[in-house]
Amino acid sequence: MSRKIVVTSALPYANGPIHMGHLVEYLQTDIWVRFQKICGNQCLYFCADDTHGTPIMISARAENITPEKLIERAHKEHEEDLKNFYVEFDNYYTTHSEENRQFSELIFNNLNDAGSITKREVEQAYCENCKMFLPDRYVLGACPRCKAEDQYGDSCEVCSGTHQPTELINPHCATCGTEPVRKKSDHYFFKLADYEKQLKKLIKDGYTQKSIANKLNEWFETGLKDWDISRDGPYFGFKIPSEENKFFYVWLDAPIGYMASAKNYCDRNNLDFDKLWNSGEYELYHFIGKDIMYFHALFFPAMLIGSGFKPADKIFVHGFLTVNGQKMSKSRGTFIKASTYFKHLDPEYLRYYYASKLAGGIDDIDLSVEDLVNKTNSNLVGKFANLASRSGPMLTKNLNSQLSKLDGPGKKLIDKLASAKDQIISDYENLNYASVVRTITALADEANRYVEQNQPWITIKTDLDKTQTTLTTTINAVRILTVYLKPILPKFAEKIEKFLNIDPLKFTDLDTVLENHKINPFERLIDRIDKKQVDAMIEESKETQNIEPQTETSGEPIKPECTIDDFTKIDLRIAKIISAEPVEGADKLLRLQLDLGDTKKEVLAGIAQAYTPDQLTGKIVVCLANLKPRKMKFGTSEAMILAAGPGGKDIFMLSVDSGAEPGQTVH
Ligand code: 2FM
Ligand code: ZN
Repeated sequence: MSRKIVVTSALPYANGPIHMGHLVEYLQTDIWVRFQKICGNQCLYFCADDTHGTPIMISARAENITPEKLIERAHKEHEEDLKNFYVEFDNYYTTHSEENRQFSELIFNNLNDAGSITKREVEQAYCENCKMFLPDRYVLGACPRCKAEDQYGDSCEVCSGTHQPTELINPHCATCGTEPVRKKSDHYFFKLADYEKQLKKLIKDGYTQKSIANKLNEWFETGLKDWDISRDGPYFGFKIPSEENKFFYVWLDAPIGYMASAKNYCDRNNLDFDKLWNSGEYELYHFIGKDIMYFHALFFPAMLIGSGFKPADKIFVHGFLTVNGQKMSKSRGTFIKASTYFKHLDPEYLRYYYASKLAGGIDDIDLSVEDLVNKTNSNLVGKFANLASRSGPMLTKNLNSQLSKLDGPGKKLIDKLASAKDQIISDYENLNYASVVRTITALADEANRYVEQNQPWITIKTDLDKTQTTLTTTINAVRILTVYLKPILPKFAEKIEKFLNIDPLKFTDLDTVLENHKINPFERLIDRIDKKQVDAMIEESKETQNIEPQTETSGEPIKPECTIDDFTKIDLRIAKIISAEPVEGADKLLRLQLDLGDTKKEVLAGIAQAYTPDQLTGKIVVCLANLKPRKMKFGTSEAMILAAGPGGKDIFMLSVDSGAEPGQTVH
């Protein structure tokens, strides 16, 4: 009997790009969904952009666009990025949708009717200049404990202590620097503790992995607190019915976005949402990271139970990603965006690599770039692709692309490979992809040993029949390994299916063999990684984040004070741009030669989308003349030109029109 399953991944914020960290989850989920499909199960995969909240509103303001415009752009980019990594959703929707508004209101009203919502006054930081209440992360100041400057209103990144925004020393608004005042306002709260019993039962019945259940017990012991689900305007989100200027907190409508995405899909595909979500006919699973467990293990299921909806059967929680053993870092170039990776490397390398690391637990996983290169070259290319590339061309060239029949030893090998099926299915089902990869690698080693022993490249000269039998076995081995690898490597599998001239592979194909069959000419499956490609990706990750003015910068807090002594270290000079030219391979950079009177300097400036070289030549500008030369991939930059703006096309150079001579000091 085939199963019916609904699966979700956490919704990425519309406020930033998809990066390597996000991909752990989307790839983990996509592999599971693809696995279910090739088992013959019906599996629907829903996701959406998480579009509401203060950061999105502030980013949009900083870019001088509406939040709607910002989230529309993010949606396109996210969809494109995820498609490039072969993440195949049945619906990739948005939380800023009519379906989501209706569900959010319905759930809120039902909870209200059930007596699970309460309203009370709250005092919060308020910026009189920005005319808004400030979330904890938008109040900055020195830590009350260790006195570290520039810490957020909720916790200190230096001493790890937690605090209230009111306790900060010299608190100021992160957007404009004004000292906030305290202001009162009514807020709505969800009474989470009302659902303690139901939540405990859910968890006892297997809602989470075991290791998570322990963490949840700690939370129960500390006591479940009321949850503030409203925010005052200005806020980008859904207005609370019957309120003038209050909105649902983004975290209320974000998980409801799973339902909205499913509903939108159902309406377009003639399915009954209520049956899909509530009837029990479909199993329902959420894939999430361990940072958002509280929302998915407590708030969301409690809200669903309280409003008459069915909570998920289980949440699958994974750990964080580190790169080369450390937190992803913009300055080290390890904060790698999906789009940057895609420019340099094949997405299937990453799918394979992550699969080899994911074992279904909540431990963090490490992306070591050296290991990525080694595993790809030695296993993916050296073991799997090689098996096909050793047999395909020989069959085409010498044996009319024709398979014959398996002999005794060949059958033995194929039976052995096929008999791993149950283990592999069980490992996939339990998200232990690392074990799947280990098993497949051991089987590939065996198949390669078979080829070594039978030496078809020698027998081809003396015994065509024997060679054909050997190659028939090898091709059957390739076919079996491809079934096993298909959830991880969908594109690779598609190429093999084309080469073998067969229909899309499924697990049931393991019950048959391919004999007396004509295959197609072999085409290249996958290339080795050259370490240089990885280096270029890291370099570009450094470069884009360092040189491009980031769209978020105008929303960023003013940096800590600098003294007049700090300031006098800066040597600003008038400079004339003598020449400007594009930089090959870097579409955002221009190479400029500056005349500073006594000396000349070369600058690599990230302004190619804002200015053409012609517009720049002859211009008189202001530059930072004593910058320590910065080595970059495309050369060394010896100065910086003063410019402002959100980035891209909108960068405006500070230009000086008359009377100023190159080399003059700027005061
Ligand atoms: O943590 C995050 O990135 C959130 N955008 C995840 C939301 S998941 C779901 F609840 F919507
Ligand atoms: Zn302010």
